[in-house]
Amino acid sequence: MAAKKPKTAKKPAPAAKKTARAKKPAAGRKPAAGATRARPAPAVAPLPRERPPLLEALYAEHRHIASVMQLFREQLEAIAAGQLVDTHVVYEVMDYMVTWPDRFHHPREDLIYGRVAELDAGAADSVDSLQRDHDAMAETAREVLRNIRQWRDGEVSGEELVRSGRAYIDHMYEHMNTEEKLVFPEIDRVLGAEDWRELAQDDQLRPVADPVFGPRVQREFRNMARKLRSSVRRGVERGTLVEWLSVEAVMESLEVVSMAYESARGSAAEHARVAWDEGVELFRESAVTAPWRCAANNARLGLRLIQEVAEISRQALGDISRVNQERKARIRLMDS
Ligand SMILES: [Fe+2]
Ligand SMILES: [Fe+2]
Repeated sequence: MAAKKPKTAKKPAPAAKKTARAKKPAAGRKPAAGATRARPAPAVAPLPRERPPLLEALYAEHRHIASVMQLFREQLEAIAAGQLVDTHVVYEVMDYMVTWPDRFHHPREDLIYGRVAELDAGAADSVDSLQRDHDAMAETAREVLRNIRQWRDGEVSGEELVRSGRAYIDHMYEHMNTEEKLVFPEIDRVLGAEDWRELAQDDQLRPVADPVFGPRVQREFRNMARKLRSSVRRGVERGTLVEWLSVEAVMESLEVVSMAYESARGSAAEHARVAWDEGVELFRESAVTAPWRCAANNARLGLRLIQEVAEISRQALGDISRVNQERKARIRLMDS
């Protein structure tokens, strides 16, 4: 499918033709007194056709992957330059790639590409090679993640991690560029509304919340999410002062607290729902004993919630302490 040329300009749609031929006022003729002056009809450009939602989702996921790859590249450059980096961030980046794009983004593309290959025999080879590339990339991602673990344990050098990480990023960009330039437009051309409707009913194509870019950041990826947010604030010139580092550290700490709050709130809501469901069930079993059994059950669930919130707080304190250590290390580097 990659070989096809992009479509050339289409004939204008009949409605657009009509609009283009909108009558002009006759030159040199003044409107009669009291007559409403005929306004020229505005030129109506044909509306750009909206992309099907599933295709739009693939584009959005590419933007997310690109921002994660950008963060990974920054971390690798810092490692290559001998600077200190937050190893949690480095780990979470590749953990995210293994957890999300390899489990959801690429399999979804495989399903959509499969449908294109059914309708367009000429696309079968390209589809096959892209699907094999997905498998190969998932394997490489697991290798890079393994490398990161070993690098954290001092078993793999920084140079080796930087080499494998850079190769992974370059390949990921190349793959996404091929898809966006050649494959996605072809998908859009081949698949009709009925195909998209059928695809949307496939369970594997149902929306699943992204653990970093979705409505809630999952705790496993909180350091990376914080770094992604703070990279928006970066852009300040190197060496532009210790105060900035302090301000940045305060902002990051506030984000740690806010993310911990979101996690705790999510846990509390989940516990309330479980307590209610179980309470209803206990009343169904026996209305006489239900109040006592409910009280005992709520106490048990309450204790579990306290333990979870304590764990979230402990992790948040650890994160804040790491943010502060990172700030001190960066100030030391600037001073040296
Ligand atoms: Fe892909
Ligand atoms: Fe993709």
